[in-house]
Amino acid sequence: MKILLVDGTIIGRKTGAVLEQVKTYIEEFRPEMELEILHLSDYEHQFVDGRPSSEYNEDMQEMVRRFNNADGYIIASPIFQGSIPGVLKNAFDMLHPRTMRYKPVSIVANGGTYQHHLVIENQLKPILDYFRCLVTPNYVYTHTSHFDDSNSITNEDVHDRLRELARVFVEYADMSQHLSKETIDEH
Ligand SMILES: Cc1cc2nc3c(=O)[nH]c(=O)nc-3n(C[C@H](O)[C@H](O)[C@H](O)COP(=O)(O)O)c2cc1C
Repeated sequence: MKILLVDGTIIGRKTGAVLEQVKTYIEEFRPEMELEILHLSDYEHQFVDGRPSSEYNEDMQEMVRRFNNADGYIIASPIFQGSIPGVLKNAFDMLHPRTMRYKPVSIVANGGTYQHHLVIENQLKPILDYFRCLVTPNYVYTHTSHFDDSNSITNEDVHDRLRELARVFVEYADMSQHLSKETIDEH
């Protein structure tokens, strides 16, 4: 299975650092899983404005192809202004609604305010529900204080939660393989 780990920001390092750590833990549980990281910061973004997809630049089209070709996702997001970054929402807007349907997804997020883990509950999960993803019940929210100066995660509880997230994610990935993709309705 091919899993796309999406670093959903073009600013900051901690979100990517959490993603790298999740990747390590998934590799420990399931070495045969194909894991690749997509850094939104590597792409030249264009606002989604309803034009035909062929009229977007090659980066936007490549980003969509990578989402389409994946069998599951880890979505990593910082919290910006009490929400997810615009660039991540724009990337979601670029996808066909069926792109992530019935595929396993886990969320990791980082913010400077503890209470803003609720952004995941109230904003990111509803988007993934719209896409009809198999969102794991586990997600991990990290706070600036969980990192050292070089952005390594120093908090052991966070490591435990990331390990548990990886364990549950691979179980959801297995489950998703038994879901028929042929019975998709259009509504
Ligand atoms: C424009 C901007 C807005 C932010 N707004 C919030 C916010 O509303 N809540 C919060 O918890 N953190 C907020 N932060 C902190 C970021 O979530 C934090 O910088 C991010 O998780 C990544 O950390 P890093 O920049 O040290 O890599 C904001 C950061 C920026 C740059």
